[in-house]
Amino acid sequence: MLSISAEEFLCWKKKQLSKGGDHQSFAVLLDCIGGISTSDLNLISINPKGKLNLKKNLGFLESIWNEHLLKSCPIQYLCGITFWRDLKLKVTNKVLIPRPETELIVDIVFNIFRKKSEKLFFAELGTGSGAISVALALAYPFSEGLATDIDKDALEIATKNYINSSKQSNLKFYCGNWWSPLESFKGKLDLAISNPPYIPKDIYEKLPKEVKDFEPKLALLGGEDGLKHLREIIQKAPLFLKEKGWLILENHFDQAEKVKQLLIKNEFTSIEIVKDLSGIGRFTIGRYK
Ligand SMILES: C[S@@+](CC[C@H](N)C(=O)[O-])C[C@H]1O[C@@H](n2cnc3c(N)ncnc32)[C@H](O)[C@@H]1O
Repeated sequence: MLSISAEEFLCWKKKQLSKGGDHQSFAVLLDCIGGISTSDLNLISINPKGKLNLKKNLGFLESIWNEHLLKSCPIQYLCGITFWRDLKLKVTNKVLIPRPETELIVDIVFNIFRKKSEKLFFAELGTGSGAISVALALAYPFSEGLATDIDKDALEIATKNYINSSKQSNLKFYCGNWWSPLESFKGKLDLAISNPPYIPKDIYEKLPKEVKDFEPKLALLGGEDGLKHLREIIQKAPLFLKEKGWLILENHFDQAEKVKQLLIKNEFTSIEIVKDLSGIGRFTIGRYK
C-alpha cells in the first residue's frame, strides 16, 4: 500500500478528469485498480487534510486512464472488472459489460417470486459474464439455475464469476444455441430469462466506437430487425417452461410492443411491458398459459 496525502490525490484526480472521460469510468479505475472506493472519496472530500492508501501508484493509474481516453476502450475491459448490483465481476472483451439497466431484471424476478426460500428452477439464456444468473443463484439459495451461452470463452468467465461470488453449487453452465443445451429440462422450468442480442443491423453499424470496436458482436447484433434471437427464444420457450412458468426478456428501446405480440402469438398470458429507470419499455414478461 502507498500512502499519499488527500490533497495531492485530489489535485491529480482533477487533472485526469480535465483530459476527458466520465466520472463513473474514473471511479471504476480508482476502485478496481487503485483500491479507492466511493466511500473513501467521500471521506476525503469532507477531510482533505487526511491520507489515502493506494494499491498502485498514480503513474500506473494515469497510464490506464490515458489508454482508455486514447483508444476509447471501456475502462472495465482495461481493469478486467466491473461492478453490477452488489457483485464485482471479471470481464474481458469476450463478454458484454453488463449494463446498469439490466440490473432491474433481478428486481422483476424478486417481484414475482417473493420468497427467497423458494426452490426455483430457472434458466438464463445467453449468460455472458454470468451477472444475472449469479445474482439469482445467490439471492435464492435453494434454487437451481442453468446458465447457457453459445460462446465457450464467455461461459468460462461466467463460471469464474460464480465461483468467486459464491460458495454454493446451485448454478450450472451449458454451452450451445439458445434452448438446445437444455433438451433434458423440457417442461421443468419455473422461470427463463434472457437479455439476448437485440440491436438491429443498421443501428449496430452506427454504434459508438467504444461499443462496436470492443464489445463482442455476438452479444449485440440481433439480425436485420433485431428480433431474430428474441423470436427464436419465444417460439421454443413453451417447450421448456412449466405451465404458468415465466419468461422475462430484455429488448431494445422500441421493441417491447413487437415482443408482446410475439408472446401473445405463442400463447403467453399475463404479459407486461416493464419500464427501466429512464421510462423505456425495456423488459417484456409473460407467463406460459
Ligand atoms: C446481450 S448479451 C447478454 C449477456 C448477459 N446476460 C448480460 O445481461 O449482461 C447476449 C449473450 O448471448 C450470447 N449469445 C449470442 N447468440 C447466442 C445463441 N445463438 N445462443 C446462446 N447464446 C447466444 C452472447 O454470447 C452473449 O453472451
